[in-house]
Amino acid sequence: MTENNLNYDQWKKVLAEHGQEHVLGHWPKLTAREREGLCQQLNEIDFVELGDLLAGQDETTDFKALAMRAASPPAVLADGSGADWSPAEARERGEEALKQGEFGAVIVAGGQGTRLGFDQPKGMFSIGPVSGRTLFQFFVDRLLAVNEKYGCCIPLYIMTSEATDEQTRDYFRENDNLGLQPDDLHIFKQGVMPAVDSVNGKLLMDSTSSIALSPDGHGGTVSALERGGCLDDAVRRGIRHLAYIQVDNPLAQLCDPELIGHHLMAASDMTTQVVRKREPMERVGNVVLVDGQVQIIEYSDLPESAATATNEDGSLKLWAGNIAVHMFKLDFLRRVAGEAASLPFHRASKKVPYCDESGKLVHVDQPNAVKFEKFIFDLLPIAKNAFVVESLASEAFAPVKNAAGARTDTPETARKAITDLHRGWLEEAGVCVDQGVQVEINPRVALSAGDLHEKIEPNLRISADQYFDSRLES
Ligand code: UTP
Repeated sequence: MTENNLNYDQWKKVLAEHGQEHVLGHWPKLTAREREGLCQQLNEIDFVELGDLLAGQDETTDFKALAMRAASPPAVLADGSGADWSPAEARERGEEALKQGEFGAVIVAGGQGTRLGFDQPKGMFSIGPVSGRTLFQFFVDRLLAVNEKYGCCIPLYIMTSEATDEQTRDYFRENDNLGLQPDDLHIFKQGVMPAVDSVNGKLLMDSTSSIALSPDGHGGTVSALERGGCLDDAVRRGIRHLAYIQVDNPLAQLCDPELIGHHLMAASDMTTQVVRKREPMERVGNVVLVDGQVQIIEYSDLPESAATATNEDGSLKLWAGNIAVHMFKLDFLRRVAGEAASLPFHRASKKVPYCDESGKLVHVDQPNAVKFEKFIFDLLPIAKNAFVVESLASEAFAPVKNAAGARTDTPETARKAITDLHRGWLEEAGVCVDQGVQVEINPRVALSAGDLHEKIEPNLRISADQYFDSRLES
């Protein structure tokens, strides 16, 4: 009996037990290499977990009922109110923690970016309005600037997926790690989940020898950080907290000292940055307090009556919109990484092309499949002292989700937000920027408006698009 046959027999038994034996339907016609690939995929699937999901045993949360009990979360507001400490004290504490090397950075970049329609990993998308810098460059420049300013050396952990891993690694290798020391950059891959037929729960195949697998959601970060050795690496470096952002928000304030300071002053396991919702039914997750726990209720789960409820002054009761910028105590992540069930799966109905019994690929125009994903923000309810920090969208949130031409969250809206923010910094420092001119400031020149004051030439006038890379003359 060959090793493949042995694997075949074993898998046949396991698959039969779970009603998935069709996966081996084309086995006799597969090459040795294809068989090996299929077995590798099967190894990545937890069939007991999948069985529970298919049986619906995990579905316990009644979000609508939760929403009716939801209140505003404990938060420091953008004007600095709401906490027992001032923004200045928070900043000082954050700066100290950065100088002590207590922080590492995590960027999740495993998503498939289907809405943007870019055929490379989103991190490689050019977003700089004048410089054309990529999203990855934006964040690495920012980290290098923070390193320079505070004399620290923040390691960067980038999560990729099967869809983005190879190109991301090539990109960093071919571009000298964008200036990071090799030891300070760790690229690690997230796990996968199979897509199943929404009618009968059967695993979908994308070819005769391959199961349709997709990334397990940004909630997969926790176990992937552990599997990839990043949590151990962070411990080895004496890191105590990780700052987390998603790759598609070029304004994300990665390792901002004030934000870090609030997280530390609140002695929080997990702190999340939010922006005020522009409208009650805005399509963002709502950060709320329910029964003493901070958690996120997706806009789709929030009844209109809860979304539109107001305080006496007319402001929204549930005002805090999730922007997916979080800070975690490392010990908290290490603890939850060991608890397999710490994050629930969410279901999404998707269109997934599949290979039928005859081996033909069938394209679909209606959702035919269920995908399972974990969400990182589901850690909030189990975090001790979970805390919320409000920021202004104009300073912290410009997501790149949709392709050009869509109404919101496009590359154009993000580029405009970058140039508007930097124009504001320049004007605050006394610079005159002509109407219609685009400006962009590299973080190594200034991480905030305050940094510019020290460096700016008096009476500078900018009348053509300009990227401030290292010098500030026009
Ligand atoms: P989105 O949920 O917006 O998905 O991810 P996306 O892949 O960027 O875009 P669509 O939905 O296919 O159009 C938000 C962030 O979470 C990361 C993405 O890379 C993005 O930074 N993410 C998402 C992962 O790293 N892994 C996942 O499994 C899902």
